[in-house]
Amino acid sequence: MVTGEVEVEVRELKILNTAKTPPFMLDDYVDVAENIRLKHRYLDLRRPAIQANLMLRHRVARTVRTYLDKQGFLEIETPVLTKSTPEGARDYLVPSRVNPGTFYALPQSPQLFKQLLMISGYDRYCQIVKCFRDEDLRADRQPEFTQIDCEMSFVNRDDVIAIMEGMIAEVFRDALGVDVSLPMARMTYAEALDRFGVDNPDLRFDLELVEISDVVKSSGFKVFADVVKGGGIVKALNAKGCASFSRKEIDDLTDFVKIYGAKGLAYVKMTDEGWQSPIAKFFTESELATLNTVLGAEVGDLLLFVADTYRVTNESLGRLRGHLGHKLGLTSKTDFKFVWITDFPLLEWDGEARRHVAVHHPFTAPMDEDIALLDSDPGKARAKAYDLVLNGSEIGGGSIRIHDQAVQSKMFDLMGIGFDEAREKFGFLLDALEFGAPPHGGIAFGLDRLVMILTGSDSIRDVIAFPKTQKATCLMSEAPNVVDEKQLRELSIRLATRPK
Ligand code: AMO
Ligand code: AMP
Repeated sequence: MVTGEVEVEVRELKILNTAKTPPFMLDDYVDVAENIRLKHRYLDLRRPAIQANLMLRHRVARTVRTYLDKQGFLEIETPVLTKSTPEGARDYLVPSRVNPGTFYALPQSPQLFKQLLMISGYDRYCQIVKCFRDEDLRADRQPEFTQIDCEMSFVNRDDVIAIMEGMIAEVFRDALGVDVSLPMARMTYAEALDRFGVDNPDLRFDLELVEISDVVKSSGFKVFADVVKGGGIVKALNAKGCASFSRKEIDDLTDFVKIYGAKGLAYVKMTDEGWQSPIAKFFTESELATLNTVLGAEVGDLLLFVADTYRVTNESLGRLRGHLGHKLGLTSKTDFKFVWITDFPLLEWDGEARRHVAVHHPFTAPMDEDIALLDSDPGKARAKAYDLVLNGSEIGGGSIRIHDQAVQSKMFDLMGIGFDEAREKFGFLLDALEFGAPPHGGIAFGLDRLVMILTGSDSIRDVIAFPKTQKATCLMSEAPNVVDEKQLRELSIRLATRPK
């Protein structure tokens, strides 16, 4: 060894196998393009950093199983070849050979089956389970990923939250030796959007959004005044101490908010002489004074503004807040800030499809006090849904379900899903609800996302043994791939497009 110590004394040497020189160094500090690592994933997996990630992942799964077992949960497997479960993504389909022209859908989640298990009397179900979603991939999304999936009977929101907080605390203790203080913080969806612009706020830093519509609605800056007149809002962020940002840096921030639909990013540098800004001239002394007060502006600060619809303003500034948090080094990977987001809206209006869609999924119960709104103003009804957000990432989400067939049918109505369509898609659930369904609810955590945060990884691929690329391919096995004509014939499939 390098130290001069002898690690092994050789008595006999027998070569079991030979090894080629690996295409890249298996050292953690060597920068190798990810596509080369993924192509030779079996070698990449030898790197100590990835091994540590997979070992930690194993420990998390073990802790979860032990905890849930102690709490009386039964792990029950649900089918993978099944029917579509709507979770908002496209389905992966599997053609049936035996029933030509028909398809199974891979589950986007075991949602319907776990609800059926409640009706069957297995009052605490859990499963560490693969889910499949054909959606646009990002750094924290994979087409197949793993959920820690739970469902319970005779529970309310606070019961689910309490049991799950206990599980997460146990995971942090076992995996990292970190004590999570319980109960975790909670915040309503409305408050999250108001203060942070998004429903997954990163609470490791402040930098809150402030609405200034009232201050600017009759100002001389037409961009702001017109947006407020048109029913939109104006919000601002005070980036403390960032007045020194260069023109280029501010242009980059402007390009960033444009990704989310903002038309511009107005800015102000706070100097000894007051506002230094292309828009300063449009405001009166008293408007400037009010803005300084509500934004807590001091010399050296950079104020950033977006004026747009409620949705665009919140999303663009909310994302900008997250972006600035990273840029300014406010997001320590060893700081863990949890928050439950509650009181989500039940439905949202889909302008393109001209109908309501479920914000969580169509089986989520409305708040008791909002049931009447389903008839009068469905868009205002809130859901018994909750998400757990950790450091700005949604690590879990769930809800109390509808256990009453009549309410379930009404939900389908509101979503423009007619009787026949509902019967065809979820007839088995609607039937089952008529056989004494207990009140029930549950949650699912993204295991990959949780382990990603626990290990401080930047990519979900670093905590999955054999991940897919952003284009949903496996560079090692080269899946997806073409199949034989014969296989297609057996499946009664004719291709409209030749694969490249
Ligand atoms: P939901 O759709 O919120 O809820 O999913 C639960 C959690 O799974 C994780 N997740 C993902 N992780 C990686 N890649 C993906 N493509 C991906 N999609 C989701 C997230 C998310 O919080 N059936 C409901 C749960 C319930 O109501 O009980 C469901 O699936 O961390
Ligand atoms: P203009 O009058 O178009 O030159 O814009 C003046 C400043 O306002 C520029 O910094 C723009 O980026 C910004 N701006 C334009 N539209 C908006 C908007 N909707 N919200 C916030 N800032 C904007």
